[in-house]
Amino acid sequence: MIVSPSLLSCDFANIQRDVQMLNNSEADWLHIDVMDGVFVPNISFGLPVVEAIKKHAKKPLDVHLMIVNPDQYIGDFKRVGAEFLTIHYEACTHLHRSVQLIHQHEMKAGVALNPHTPVDVLSEIICDLDLVLIMSVNPGFGGQKFIPQAVEKVKKLQNIIQRSGSKALIEIDGGVNLETGKILADAGADALVAGSFVFGSENPISTISQLKKL
Ligand code: DX5
Ligand code: ZN
Repeated sequence: MIVSPSLLSCDFANIQRDVQMLNNSEADWLHIDVMDGVFVPNISFGLPVVEAIKKHAKKPLDVHLMIVNPDQYIGDFKRVGAEFLTIHYEACTHLHRSVQLIHQHEMKAGVALNPHTPVDVLSEIICDLDLVLIMSVNPGFGGQKFIPQAVEKVKKLQNIIQRSGSKALIEIDGGVNLETGKILADAGADALVAGSFVFGSENPISTISQLKKL
């Protein structure tokens, strides 16, 4: 299992310390949640903070943009060090063009789906994607309750991926813990994002290693 701890739940006054902790853990990627207060009802952090994280991170940055008009910032996120750039289906009128733009900037392209969005909307573009991020909470906040319909979506998406020959990874974001993580792993998830479960635990390093084993 690929594990991508979400820095949304880290201690913002000690980001460097928390990034170093993740460097020393079995985490595969660092999940970075960028929110604009328009696409989602919350504001998190922007480019300068991602740039500061990059200076200390020894793992790839898995950047999740919860913003409108993401095309406008694709070059900027490359500049500050994103390896994976995930944009929301619901925020892109010309999704194919946006995905092409991410690839032109030599990043892996991901598309995120809100809980109400069916996975079928990606069937015509799945071969162009490196990653699909299934939201198992409504985006905007950490620490929310897992929406169980996400499990069926993982299975349906896996079907679409297998039929098309796409190499896209399936990543899940929201309410992931050992219990929901196990169900998602069995359903075919490749990667798990976990924020409050990792940073709220007594020993984040061992929590990450438990998630790795799912
Ligand atoms: C929510 C973010 C998540 C968030 C997950 O909008 O996309 O990445 O950090 O937090 P938990 O794991 O606490 O549900
Ligand atoms: Zn996220």
